[in-house]
Formats: sequence, C-alpha cells, structure tokens
Amino acid sequence: MSDWTKSDWRSKPRIQMPDYTDANALRAVESKLSQFPPLVFAGEARRLKKALGAASRGEAFLLQGGDCAEAFDQFSADAIRDTFKVMLQMAVVLTYGAKVPVIKVGRMAGQFAKPRSAPTETVGDVELPSYRGDIINELAFTPEARIPDPNKMLQAYTQAAGTLNLLRAFSTGGFADINNVHRWTSEFADGQAVKKYKDWAERISDALDFMGAAGIDADEVESLASVDFYTSHEGLLLEYEEALCREDSTTPGAWLAGSGHMLWIGDRTRQPDGAHVDFLRGVLNPIGMKCGPTMEEDDLKRLLATLNPENEEGRLTLIARFGAGKVAEHLPRLIKTVEAEGAKVTWVCDPMHGNTIKSSTGYKTRPFESVLREVQDFFGVHRAEGTIPGGVHFEMTGQDVTECTGGVRAVTEENLSDRYHTACDPRLNASQSLELAFLVAEELQTLRNGQNAQRAV
Ligand code: PEP
Ligand code: CO
Repeated sequence: MSDWTKSDWRSKPRIQMPDYTDANALRAVESKLSQFPPLVFAGEARRLKKALGAASRGEAFLLQGGDCAEAFDQFSADAIRDTFKVMLQMAVVLTYGAKVPVIKVGRMAGQFAKPRSAPTETVGDVELPSYRGDIINELAFTPEARIPDPNKMLQAYTQAAGTLNLLRAFSTGGFADINNVHRWTSEFADGQAVKKYKDWAERISDALDFMGAAGIDADEVESLASVDFYTSHEGLLLEYEEALCREDSTTPGAWLAGSGHMLWIGDRTRQPDGAHVDFLRGVLNPIGMKCGPTMEEDDLKRLLATLNPENEEGRLTLIARFGAGKVAEHLPRLIKTVEAEGAKVTWVCDPMHGNTIKSSTGYKTRPFESVLREVQDFFGVHRAEGTIPGGVHFEMTGQDVTECTGGVRAVTEENLSDRYHTACDPRLNASQSLELAFLVAEELQTLRNGQNAQRAV
C-alpha cells in the first residue's frame, strides 16, 4: 500500500493503549523485537485469506477460538494441547455433521493485550489503573503490578513463539491425523455431546477402514494426516505490532503483521480515523473487525472502504457480537449496508462478548443459554437475509473450568468459584464447547437443506 507506513498510526488518536513512563526502555524493547524473526509468513497469511474467501461464499466455515487473554502463569504444553484438542473435536463435528471444510484459527500465540471498559479499577477505597493483559501489566491489585512495563512484550513474544511452535508440531506431526479421531476426547468432558462425538468418531474410523480396504492409504493423503492451524489475536498493542511488521520479501511494498496470521480490531478501537484502523489497513493479513450494537451504518461504510479498498475476498471478516436478543435489531441493518456497498466480507458470530453478566456471587460470567441463543439468532438472520454465515468465534479452553454457567454439566452461579481461572473474560469449557459445535453443525445442516430444497423447486 503506497500511502501507508507501519508507523503512521503514531500520529492518529490512540485509545486503550498504555502510556509507558520509561521511553528509553520502550525504545530498547522495540528495537530488539524488530530484530527478532516474524512468527508467521506472508504465504500462510495469504492462504488463510483465501480460505476465508471460501467461507464468505459458504464453501468453508471458520472456527476461531481460544482464551480471552493468554496468561504468562498459565503457559504450559498441556493447556495448549487441551485447547487444540477441543478445537479438533469441534472441527470434526462441523466437518462430519455439516459436510463443510473447517478453517481452524486459535485465539492463541499472541492474545495478550486487553481493551478495558474502565481505565481504573477500584477495590474498597483504593483506585488503581486497570489490568490490560500480561503483555502490558499484571493482574495483582498493587500499584507496582499495574505499571505498564515494555519488557513484558519480550516475554509475550517468547510465549507466542513457543506456543506457535507446539501448535505447528501438533498440526503436522501426527497428532492431528484423522486416524487419531478417538484420542482427541477430553478427559474433562462428558454428557450427550461426548457420547455423540464418540459415535461419530467410530463412524469416521469405519470409513477410514473402508478406504484402507479399498486401497486408499489415509496416511498418504496429506489433508487427512495433518491440519492447517492458524493463529489470531486482537491487534491492540501497536508498538508490539509495528515492531513485528515486516515487508514481504516476495512482494516488495506489501507488509505483513508478523505477530499472527489474522489480527482483528476490537469493538472499542474501530474508530475510522483512529490508530488501530490505520495500522491494520496497511497489512496484507486477513483482518477481522468486531461489530457491536454501537456500530453505525455510516461508520461501517467508511471502514469497509478503508480496510478493504480493493474489495478483496477473505480480507475482511466482520465479527458480530451483539448479545442474545439484540441480533435481530442490529445484524440486518449492517448486512444491508454491506450488501448495498457490494462489499465482500465474511460474517462471523461471536456469541460471547455481548453476553457477559455479573453473577449473584460476584463473578463475571456468561449464561450458556444466551451463547446458544445468539448463535441461533445469527443463523436465523442470515437465513432471512439470504446471506452467508461464515463462522463462529468463541472464548473457550480445553481446561475443566467453571466460568460460563449452564451446559450439560450444569455449572451454577454457586459453582463459578470452583475453577474460575480466566485472566479476563469467562470461557466455555470442553463440554460446553463441544455441545455448541453440535448446535452449529445442526444450524449449518438446516441451512444446507433449505438451499437444496430451494434448488429442487
Ligand atoms: C475480545 O475479543 O476479547 C474483546 C475484547 O472483544 P470485543 O472487542 O468484541 O469487546
Ligand atoms: Co474477551
């Protein structure tokens, strides 16, 4: 992009970013990060963009999921493996149940910075700056912990590199081979969804045995022996993003955000003239934008033109997050705006961020029924508008947490304190995630049956 440089964002209004007090320390970190290798490559980002283009046409479906906020003290191979496993299971449910290729994108290997609804947090009569994610400051409620420290960017880079390395190994090193479909079940999950998964896994094994007997060796078929797994995070901390932004060696003048395959703009930082939109408009990666109830049609029009001036397929994913009961009020007007502009976008549903409530026991939670309902409403509106639901975006973990209420294991408000580990927003646990995958598969099947019926008349 000729009218853009990776530092232009610095002259635009910036919000939700820390004011580092030690300018020298910040410069030193930025200069170090600029020398480190990028975590992803331009070819991978382009491949994901192409896949998201297919999702915009209904020929693939995006499954994006992971932590609300990755945390330094929860970094472990087991945690990464468990989330990866649940995503594989969900992908099997969607692929087998809805007969659609699933694009797997983790909120992983970079999801460290958090926008906050208030700049400060008050406990009793003590007021401190808010926690903004482990890449910026610390969760502990002390004045020292809340000071933004640029050196945390180096630790975040290290954790992202380690996470991505393991994800790459899991994806291509045999673990994700479809012959292992039985081994992805989580020790924590139970209920109807798990039984159904096991049943489907059995049928898939049978089909593989049949293929083997018929002379097709599944080990030799690359798309059965490995998966493409991509990473994503909110492009919030622009000093970090700029330092990892690199010119594509194969296409001079094209710039890659090297911190992850897909970056998104949050619902709070999507001002058309703001710093975040300016940075992301210039990178070649597929990008996402969260759309909440306050998104105005005029702003959306400007953003479509700014973020995707060439109207490239797969470039822009709109992640709708309105809250259960509010989808019918907001999604149709935004869909109509997109259609009137002739803009190519991939529509994705985030049923998490519009459904956060405070429980009677004081925990931030999300009722599973609201999450389900927002997904159903999202599909319903697309059916009515004749447009394409292209994917889902969840905050979830393979760990056995009690953060969202409801689901087959019936987490109650009283249970929330049992295993509430999130560094920020409440996540679906393994059982809830799998249950949701079956619901999404059903919605996709309904959609497909409707389309087939229409074709038949
Ligand atoms: C998030 O995805 O964690 C987030 C903060 O979302 P939103 O920008 O939609 O509020
Ligand atoms: Co969140």
